[in-house]
Formats: sequence, C-alpha cells, structure tokens
Amino acid sequence: MKKILTYVFFLVILALVVIGVVLLTAKASPLTGDVPNDSALVQRGAYLAVAGDCVACHSTAKGQPFAGGLKMPIPMLGNIYSSNITPDPKTGIGNWTLAEFDRALRYGVGKDGKRLYPAMPYASYAKITDDDAKALYAYFKYGVPAVNQDIPKSTIPWPFSIRWPVQFWNVLFAPTKSYEVKTNQSPEWNRGAYLVQGLAHCGTCHTPRGLFMQEKAMDETGHDFLAGSILAGWDAPNITADTNAGIGGWTHSQLTQYLQTGSVPNIAQAGGPMGEAVEHSFSKLSDADIAAIATYIHSVPAIGDGSTRPRYAWGIASKDDVALRGVALKVVSDPASIYLGACASCHQANGLGSVDHYYPSLVHNSTVGASNPNNLIQIILHGLQRKTNTQDDIGMPAFKNDLSDAQIASLTNYLTKQFGNPNAKQATEKDVKKLRSLE
Ligand code: HEC
Ligand code: HEC
Ligand code: HEC
Repeated sequence: MKKILTYVFFLVILALVVIGVVLLTAKASPLTGDVPNDSALVQRGAYLAVAGDCVACHSTAKGQPFAGGLKMPIPMLGNIYSSNITPDPKTGIGNWTLAEFDRALRYGVGKDGKRLYPAMPYASYAKITDDDAKALYAYFKYGVPAVNQDIPKSTIPWPFSIRWPVQFWNVLFAPTKSYEVKTNQSPEWNRGAYLVQGLAHCGTCHTPRGLFMQEKAMDETGHDFLAGSILAGWDAPNITADTNAGIGGWTHSQLTQYLQTGSVPNIAQAGGPMGEAVEHSFSKLSDADIAAIATYIHSVPAIGDGSTRPRYAWGIASKDDVALRGVALKVVSDPASIYLGACASCHQANGLGSVDHYYPSLVHNSTVGASNPNNLIQIILHGLQRKTNTQDDIGMPAFKNDLSDAQIASLTNYLTKQFGNPNAKQATEKDVKKLRSLE
C-alpha cells in the first residue's frame, strides 16, 4: 500500500513539474509597442499575407476576405471555424496589440491566453521574422476593411474542446524560433527555405503526419519532409527530389511554371487545394520568390517509395474511336464509352488533349499516372477551376451529378489502365462514395 502511495505521489509531482515547465516555456511575443500606418509597410504586409495564403482559410466562398467562418472538420470530433481577422473591434482583431497578434501568428496563443488549434499553421509561421510579423500586423490593422461578422461556434464536444492541453503539443512539436539563415547556402536558397518552411507552409499539406497529427519534419534536415500526405480526400504528392516518387525529374523552370500558372503540359495540372493555393498565393508572388522556392524545393533530400517511374511518365494514347455520341451518360456502363461521351470532347478520343494544351493530355499526366487514384476521382467529381493573372481562366466541369459512384470507379480504373499507371490501386465504388461525402 505504501509503495502504491509513493508511486502515485511521484506521478503527481512529475505531472506538476511537466505542467510547470510547459507554462514557463509558453512563448511570449518578443515584439512590443505599435506599428505606424506607413503605406510601404502595409503594402509589404499585404504581399506577405498573399505568401501566407491567409485568405484561403480565413474566408468563405461567398464571404468578405478575412472575415472568417470557414468550416474546418477535425476528424471524428466535429468542426471548428476560422476566425474573423479583419480589424473589426468587436468580432475581429481590431483591438489586438502587436504582441497579441504576433502570439497568435507565431506561437498559437490567442487573446487572453486561449490556445489555438493547430489547424492554424502557427507551427510553420513560427519561422516568420520579427520584421515580417510587424508588416503583417500593419496590413491587418490598416490595410484590410473591417467586417462585423460573428463566426459559428465550434461543434467539438467537451472534454475535447478543452484547449489548454494543446500547449503540450506545442512544446513537443511547434518550433518557436524564426528562420535562421544557413551561411553555407546562397541567399536565393535561404529565401526559398524561409518561404517554404514558413509563410508558404508547403509542409502543412505535403509532409506526412505522425501519431499526434504533427508534421513529421519541419525542414529539410528531418526525415520525410515533403514526402507526401493526405488532406480531406486529396493526395498532396511527394515533392522531394526523388526522380520516381517525387519531382526530381522536373526542371527548375517546369516547377516555377507549375507554381505560377498551375499547369505544365505533359506533366501536371493543379486542381483541388493546390489549384486554390496557385490561384490565391503562388501565382501572385514575385518571379524572384518563386525561383527561390523552386531552388530550395529541388534541394530537399529525396524520399523514395519503390515507384519505378515518375507519375507523369506513364501512359500511351488510346486508339478507341468515338463510337457513342449523344447517348445519356447515366445509362452507359462501359467505361470506354463513358470516356468518349464525357471526356473526349475536350481531352480527345486518344487522350492527348488539345494542341495548345488548354485541354491537357491525360497521357503523361501526374494525376492519371499516380499510384493512388484519389485525385483522379476528385477531379472527375468536382472538376477544376483556376484563375491566374498569367493565363486564361481554366475550367473543367464537375461530373458528380452526371455519373454514379459505380460509373466513376470504372471510368477511373479504365483511365489509369489506358492512359496512366496500370499498377495503380484499383478504385472501388466505396472509395468514390467516401470522397463524394467529404464535401
Ligand atoms: C490552413 C488554414 C489557415 C491559414 C492558412 C491561416 N489561418 Fe489563421 N487561423 C486558422 C484557424 C482554423 C483559426 C482558429 C483556430 C482556433 O479556433 O483555435 C485561426 C486563427 C487565427 C488567429 C486568431 C484569431 C482569434 O480570434 O483567436 C489569427 C490572428 C490568425 N489566425 C491569423 C492568420 C494570418 C495572419 C494568416 C496568414 C499569414 C493565417 N491566419 C493563415 C486557420 C488558418
Ligand atoms: C493547401 C494544401 C497545399 C499547399 C499549401 C501546397 N500544396 Fe502542392 N499540392 C497539393 C495537392 C492536393 C496537390 C495535387 C493537385 C492535383 O494533382 O491536382 C499538390 C500538387 C503539387 C505539385 C505537383 C506534383 C505532381 O507530381 O503532380 C507540386 C510540384 C506542388 N504541389 C508543390 C508545392 C509547393 C512547392 C508548395 C509550397 C510553396 C505547395 N505545393 C503547397 C496541396 C498543397
Ligand atoms: C469542357 C472540357 C472538359 C471536359 C468535358 C473534361 N475535362 Fe478534364 N480538364 C479540362 C481542363 C480545362 C483541365 C485543366 C487544365 C489545367 O489545369 O491547365 C482539365 C484537367 C483534367 C485533369 C488533370 C487534373 C489534375 O489536377 O491534374 C484530368 C485528370 C482530367 N481533366 C480528366 C477528365 C476526365 C476523366 C473527364 C471526363 C469525366 C474530363 N476530364 C472532362 C477540361 C475538360
């Protein structure tokens, strides 16, 4: 009995020590005072907000920019909603000080010490420099119109809604230091590393997650950095330097073109969350910043997965001819006929797309050649829309209302076999049903 009591006593002391350490290490912002309403500073902040793609999560499709309210599902627990970060004093962050804003941005602590959920990528934004954090604050204080809008309450039930345990996660997994320049690398490489690890937060989507949902590595020195991950039904593929599993076979200019326009003919197009990141963020960054990002990305150590050729290197053109035109799609079950009826008008019967590449080739296409058909199913369900300054608006229709789960599954398997990777995982009706339900 005495032994057990001693043991319990020891555990309690240990827990208190751990909590004490956590509280002491909860990082305060190093920034103090205010920032001036200086137009150059506000403009720089606006650019950094684009690089950080704050608008992607802090706006809804029909809402005002930065007014929040975007629903973000937390698997198995419920939904949280992104905050209103316009300078409205009541519903936004209008009366936050520089230090309070910075604590949320880089250390995940909201006003009054409220721990933010890591759905806000503060673990990446921790890399932001003091000067850039100030410029962002200036932009959100002086450059963004205030919008009075309350956001819906989170639906996460007690006790999971208790926020303080998040600080343990932070101590274990969230860096608290700004980016440190590596003197043995070029200024361009360092600029790229700063953006990729920090504001552009490529790892939030492309780095696999561990047991506690933490990104397995936050920079190129850790294992599995950018080695591919899954988010809301989309595969964010491996973008390390591995020639077959990653993008080691892409040239520097192919990568910059992809980030700026979302399309590299005969290699890849950006749909889903990547299409949005290209539209709202990467296509609006300077040529120099995009070049720096590409330089750094190409230096990230290769992580292989046994693939025998690159995703974009699969496939041969089809010789099936256009046999069926004008037949209602819902009654067709043969996948070649579905292809000819639904897709060939743009991607051509042979799958090679249009000569100007506006309608991309499905042969030598990283989505059709991927070993997992998730993104192909997503594209068929939801189509693709992308606007950038550098090209015409891009649009492919969604087929979720025209094709059944069974039709999409058989079409997907036909496409991977015909135009893509014949060893790809087979799509099932159940897979399509699941992805369809994720909207
Ligand atoms: C991947 C999605 C995502 C991105 C990108 C993102 N945020 Fe957030 N942010 C969130 C979510 C979700 C919350 C609310 C978290 C919570 O309720 O715990 C949040 C909370 C905040 C808060 C705290 C607001 C409050 O009222 O507590 C601030 C400030 C903030 N974000 C600023 C930014 C800025 C500035 C950027 C761009 C540099 C940015 N966020 C980019 C998802 C995101
Ligand atoms: C919001 C999540 C998200 C962010 C942030 C993001 N990506 Fe992606 N990325 C994706 C998804 C999803 C795809 C697959 C898109 C598709 O096939 O239509 C993708 C595809 C790609 C591809 C094409 C790979 C291939 O083989 O087809 C490259 C290259 C890429 N991303 C680079 C980047 C870089 C570099 C960054 C940061 C500067 C970044 N991504 C940030 C989600 C994201
Ligand atoms: C009205 C024309 C049109 C039709 C019909 C059409 N597409 Fe597309 N498709 C496009 C355009 C445009 C793009 C995007 C090109 C870009 O991103 O630059 C695209 C892109 C794609 C991509 C690449 C997406 C990525 O993220 O990598 C795939 C795969 C694809 N389509 C498959 C299909 C399939 C399968 C069908 C039939 C069910 C189909 N398309 C029907 C116009 C069309």
